[in-house]
Amino acid sequence: MVRTKMIETDQLLTIKEASDWATKYLGKTVTTSNISYLIQYGLIKKIGGNGDTQVSKQELINYYKSYNGFREISWKDQLGNDLNWALSFDQYKEAETTKHVHRLHPYKGKFIPQLVEYFLDSHTDHFKKNVYFKKGDIVLDPFSGSGTTMVQACELGMHAIGIDVSAFNALIGNCKVMKYALADVQKEINRITKALKEFLLNSHTLEFERKLLQALYEFNNKHFPVPEYKYKVKRNLVNENKYGAEKEEEFLPIFNKLVKQYNIKLRQDQNDSFLDKWYSQHIRDEIRVVFDEIKKIKDTATKRIISIILSRTIRSCRATTHADLATLVEPITATYYCAKHGKVCKPLFSILKWWETYTKDTVNRLLQFDKLRTQTFQVCLAGDSRTIDIIKELEKGNPAFAELARKQKIKGIFSSPPYVGLIDYHEQHAYAYDLFGFKRKDDLEIGPLYKGQGREAKQSYIQGITDVLSNCKEYLVDDYDVFLVANDKYNMYPTIAENSGMQIVNQFKRPVLNRTEKDKGAYSEIIFHLKKVK
Ligand SMILES: C[S@@+](CC[C@H](N)C(=O)[O-])C[C@H]1O[C@@H](n2cnc3c(N)ncnc32)[C@H](O)[C@@H]1O
Repeated sequence: MVRTKMIETDQLLTIKEASDWATKYLGKTVTTSNISYLIQYGLIKKIGGNGDTQVSKQELINYYKSYNGFREISWKDQLGNDLNWALSFDQYKEAETTKHVHRLHPYKGKFIPQLVEYFLDSHTDHFKKNVYFKKGDIVLDPFSGSGTTMVQACELGMHAIGIDVSAFNALIGNCKVMKYALADVQKEINRITKALKEFLLNSHTLEFERKLLQALYEFNNKHFPVPEYKYKVKRNLVNENKYGAEKEEEFLPIFNKLVKQYNIKLRQDQNDSFLDKWYSQHIRDEIRVVFDEIKKIKDTATKRIISIILSRTIRSCRATTHADLATLVEPITATYYCAKHGKVCKPLFSILKWWETYTKDTVNRLLQFDKLRTQTFQVCLAGDSRTIDIIKELEKGNPAFAELARKQKIKGIFSSPPYVGLIDYHEQHAYAYDLFGFKRKDDLEIGPLYKGQGREAKQSYIQGITDVLSNCKEYLVDDYDVFLVANDKYNMYPTIAENSGMQIVNQFKRPVLNRTEKDKGAYSEIIFHLKKVK
């Protein structure tokens, strides 16, 4: 018996067999590229090669058990049995949670569209016993962020008003829901790409990068073979810190020689603004070339979406290591050992690659969303949700929507307020504020990171969210439904609800699985359902 079992689990599988087996084992689709990913990243060992790669079934079982099999049970142990696993949206791939316009621009703190859909759409289930919103209703998100609520409302045939204190966040949200003359967008992209390429013709940067990439390719192949090197690192068979530092050092003279040969200016002379500090001289010049071309665009919608593409591009081109992309540490100007990729990597010297990638990607995403969108109103207002006059602000840009909102009133709120002391929402897009010259209103952010999580910060958070709800409820129907996604570890929402004249009528506790941050521990958030006190 035991012997048979041993043989069965120790079986070797081809990539295709492994994907079929894992699909059955996990009860969800595991593609051959998912299996290849595990090999590539040293999570399971590659056996054989040259077209007949195999993997050990036992190793696969160990891997899946460690991250998946017991996850639900262990998370419930840590977070409580009332955790609503259905709200983990575990079955969705990343491509679905970042579908179409949801990935037009990075934004830290975005919720997944399926969560919004769950509460806005007309389905009911064991947990969601009622339908709260219907087609034609107006939904409000007073902390609109990157505009997820507006986008999902648009898909579901609902009108939506977003509000965000950060002008750049409002721009991201508006760009997601805006209608475009796509032929004009494409025409302007082509014109700008041509101008950028002409500018590059006169510099040695591309040639320098080609040479550098070639040198890196040879060096990395020799010292960091794929996938053997990562496999060794995962199993502590190599001292990664020591080896990485040694090899980084070893490559530097090659890098320095090329820099000298092509006369590359790594830093700018001034160091005053974000754009001065975080970009090499050449990238800064390219940014200027593209931005000058954007300024010539006549159509406002086209101009805005192409500005968003430039912003996304320059975000990817900041002089940082791959590991520090999310939280910048210090600008880098030379090649470095990258623990994320397990090899020596380089900073960027031109924006062209990302510009071309993102222009294509953006047009594709707009086309996809165009097929799904309904004829409804969505707009994000830039302002402070504690004090904004929603109807008055709507009137300025969209009188027909203002009229509708005045007559029909808003049916409810779906929103995720900032968590206390977690993120600085202006600062995360410092490059964009610098580039576009939007006025920053950091001091009006509720619960920013820089104010911390001390007693005073919590008091001012409670007051801030209360003020938002009190202001917004003036625009709501009487029987409103308010849904707030919150990580309420300080138990502040019962007070907030009471102070705003609302009552918590239900709580949905969801596990947050696909977190991008380094800390991937058990983590849940609550969706509070609030209504008017009867
Ligand atoms: C958690 S994020 C919302 C993310 C959003 N649900 C999404 O999917 O992108 C909170 C947002 O609240 C905004 N915010 C902070 N204080 C505000 C205020 N006083 N008025 C309006 N918005 C504010 C921040 O700028 C931030 O974009």
